[in-house]
Amino acid sequence: MTTEPPEPTTAKPVNLPPPARDGGLSVEKALAERRSVREYSNEPLSSAQVSQLLWAAYGITQPLPGIPELGGGFRAAPSAGALYPLELYLVAGAVTGLEPGIYRYRPAPHDLMLVLTGDRRRWLCQAALGQTMVRDAPASLVYSAVFSRNTAKYGERGRRRYVCMDLGHSAENVYLQCGSLGLGTCGIAAFHDDAVRLVTRLPENEEPLYIMPVGRLLKRD
Ligand SMILES: Cc1cc2nc3c(=O)[nH]c(=O)nc-3n(C[C@H](O)[C@H](O)[C@H](O)COP(=O)(O)O)c2cc1C
Repeated sequence: MTTEPPEPTTAKPVNLPPPARDGGLSVEKALAERRSVREYSNEPLSSAQVSQLLWAAYGITQPLPGIPELGGGFRAAPSAGALYPLELYLVAGAVTGLEPGIYRYRPAPHDLMLVLTGDRRRWLCQAALGQTMVRDAPASLVYSAVFSRNTAKYGERGRRRYVCMDLGHSAENVYLQCGSLGLGTCGIAAFHDDAVRLVTRLPENEEPLYIMPVGRLLKRD
C-alpha cells in the first residue's frame, strides 16, 4: 500500500460534457435487466459516459442558485432534508479524454477536480480486499459521506439511517444508468476503510461508503 504524500495540485477543473436528459431504455427494462456485473470488456469508457453516470448519481436536475445551502439545486437522487451528505470520486484508469487519476465530482458546475494523478486502480483493488473488478474496470466511482452535514440536523438517526438511505438512492441510479448505457457495475461495500481513505486521499471529515466499478459489458457468444 502506498504511503506517499498527496501531490499538491493546482489543476483546473475538467469540464464534463452535458448529460443527456433522454435515453433509449425504459425504466421498466432497466429494472428488469439490472444485475451486478463483475467482469467488463477492456474498452475504455468515454467522458460522455462518465458524465452521464455522475449526473445520474448526484447531478443537479433543478438548479436553484439562489439557495446556497442546496449546493446548486435539487439532485437526481433524493436526500433527507436536501442536505446532500455524499461526495463522489472518480478513480479513472481508462477514460477517453481524461488523464488517469482520482477526481472529485462537483455537481453544481458538473465538473471534476483533480485530486491525484496516475492510475490508482490496483491500489483501490487492494483496498477492496483484492476484488479484481476494481482493478479491471476502466473506472470506479467511490462514494464518501460527510456525516456532519446530516447529523447537525438529524443527530444519531441521521448517522444510523438517513445517510445510507441517501447512498442507496444514488447508487441505484448508477445501476440503472449503467443499464441504459450498455455498461455494468457492482456495488462494493467490502473494503478496508483506512486503505480506501489513503488511496483516494479523503479529507478527515469524509468516510468512505461504497465503490462502484464501471465498465462496458462483455460481449458473450
Ligand atoms: C450494500 C451492498 C454491498 C455489496 N458489496 C459487495 C461486495 O463487496 N462485493 C461484491 O462482489 N458484491 C457486493 N454487492 C453486490 C451483491 O452481492 C449483489 O447485489 C447481490 O448478489 C444480488 O445480485 P444483483 O445485484 O445482481 O441482483 C453488494 C451489494 C450491496 C447492496
